[in-house]
Amino acid sequence: MICSKAQITAVGAYVPEKRLTNEDLERMVDTNNEWIIKRTGIKERRIADEQEFTSDICVKAVENLIKKYDKSVHDVDMIIVCTMTPDFKTPSVAALVQAKLGIPHTGAIDLNAACAGFTYGLHVANGLITSGLNKKILVIGAETMSKITDFNDRTTCILFGDGGGAVLVEYSEQKSGFLSSHLGSKGELGKNLYCTNLSDRINGESLTGLGNIVQNGREVYKWAVNTVPKGMLSVLEKTDISLQEIDWFIPHSANLRIIESICERSEFPIEKTLKSLVEYGNTSAATIPLALDKGLTEGKVKQGDKILLYGFGGGLSHAGLLLEWTV
Ligand code: UT7
Repeated sequence: MICSKAQITAVGAYVPEKRLTNEDLERMVDTNNEWIIKRTGIKERRIADEQEFTSDICVKAVENLIKKYDKSVHDVDMIIVCTMTPDFKTPSVAALVQAKLGIPHTGAIDLNAACAGFTYGLHVANGLITSGLNKKILVIGAETMSKITDFNDRTTCILFGDGGGAVLVEYSEQKSGFLSSHLGSKGELGKNLYCTNLSDRINGESLTGLGNIVQNGREVYKWAVNTVPKGMLSVLEKTDISLQEIDWFIPHSANLRIIESICERSEFPIEKTLKSLVEYGNTSAATIPLALDKGLTEGKVKQGDKILLYGFGGGLSHAGLLLEWTV
């Protein structure tokens, strides 16, 4: 069990208004509602306006957090934005968020671990607070995946959506909620999920689909269902808590079949998972905070609950985290 001094004290979320349903996609590419539901579980996704970017989504998610928990973010001393769809290469999304929220004295960094971003961000925030370097950190998982999606590619455009979730992580002597974590990366498999930037070569191989997300879904699928169940056990091994004692499992919402397979392999009841994919699709770094926010709003997550989060995706990277809910 890690000796943590950090606690999540507030959660907020935001998704854009515009909906993209499976029926809409039927009119755009050679696909159908039945295939999408059967293969992914996704019914619809939200799409940002042309002039709405990841920093705008972050700000709305934080405003939602402030409203729901009556919190101030004026004294935040670090902002970590987990995203693979920043507004710019520089300035960082975190710096834009600092300016838009008018936070006077804070560090600001972006963290890119794709769909594992949010759990990586929480791990880093816990480290910074527990070490005494920071006292109050905003961790935001937000994406505008629609801006890097090729809406002519039926293998990817049915999956991704836009949205964001934010949490406040604060110093707490008594009420630490961070129990354990486990991180991993397999860059050798990076070519199975990429979005090109300055280079169109990866590990010596040339790539296609410049500027858009490209995925070898089957390979990522296989890697995820093999890696995540082992990773979940690695998170728990560092504690005296068993999988049977977990109240809620929040895996990255990539595909309902992946979640079913992970639960089956881990012998974990699927009813105890929280997901955001049916209504929002795969929002990359935002799926886990959106699902957490939904679980709280629906009154499912309660004080004292043990929650296992597991992010996985581009990199290929993964990160799991065990929390005790203390709010
Ligand atoms: O978030 C980051 C991590 N990402 C993931 O975890 C995603 C992992 N992968 C997946 O979720 C799944 O692999 C997909 C949902 C992307 C694809 O599902 P699949 O069951 O692996 O399908 P597939 O790629 O094996 O394709 C099966 C068939 C193919 O046709 P043939 O070759 O069997 O004739 C595809 O061409 O389905 C076809 N297909 C489609 N048909 C209708 C592929 N996309 C579509 C589509 N509509 N949108």
